[in-house]
Amino acid sequence: MSTSLIYRNGMVYGVLMRALYGRHYPDRFRAVAAEIPHGASVLDLCCGPSTLYTRYLRDREVDYHGLDLNERFVADVRKAGGRADVWNLGDGAPLPAADVVLMHASLYHFLPDASPVVDRMLAAAGDRVVIAEPVRNMASSDNKLLAALGKRYTDAGDGAQAHRYTEETLDAQLGRYADRVTKATLIAGGREKLYVLEP
Ligand SMILES: C[S@@+](CC[C@H](N)C(=O)[O-])C[C@H]1O[C@@H](n2cnc3c(N)ncnc32)[C@H](O)[C@@H]1O
Repeated sequence: MSTSLIYRNGMVYGVLMRALYGRHYPDRFRAVAAEIPHGASVLDLCCGPSTLYTRYLRDREVDYHGLDLNERFVADVRKAGGRADVWNLGDGAPLPAADVVLMHASLYHFLPDASPVVDRMLAAAGDRVVIAEPVRNMASSDNKLLAALGKRYTDAGDGAQAHRYTEETLDAQLGRYADRVTKATLIAGGREKLYVLEP
């Protein structure tokens, strides 16, 4: 199946995300970047077109490594000077080790049960796992046009992605790791929820 319109081009993806998040758009990256200690190695799963790296991490003392299924996004990160590799997280392979293993706005790709990918993140993380996920998003929007666009165009190319998390279902998913959760907070004007877990 071909990669979706939105994911095919980093610029289209960025413009759409900005439209959806409005003035809260930078907050989603700032909140995630704030969880990354100086000097840390970072493995950014489903990294997308490098916005976190180029705007928030490149100038910091951070050893960044992004992984994504989409080779165009991987090329964007490399062009910006970062390390990135094409990687299908659905293949079940162990992940490279890093101090911080993070996933931003991508856990829904692993529904109906994202536990195997969270388990692999915990196994790879030396210091912490950071997960931030939309809980109010385009595909579940009350606006029928946005919902239709979200369902139609955010398939990463590995199958239909009509299902997304709500705050309740995300809490239930990560509630399995309750003894490891050190932080759980809404970010970006309540559009996303951020979790920090200890490995
Ligand atoms: C909504 S974007 C998030 C991008 C970025 N993390 C952000 O927050 O802006 C979801 C990303 O997941 C990637 N993706 C989807 N399924 C994947 C898989 N099985 N393995 C690796 N990456 C995947 C897509 O290519 C896309 O870049």
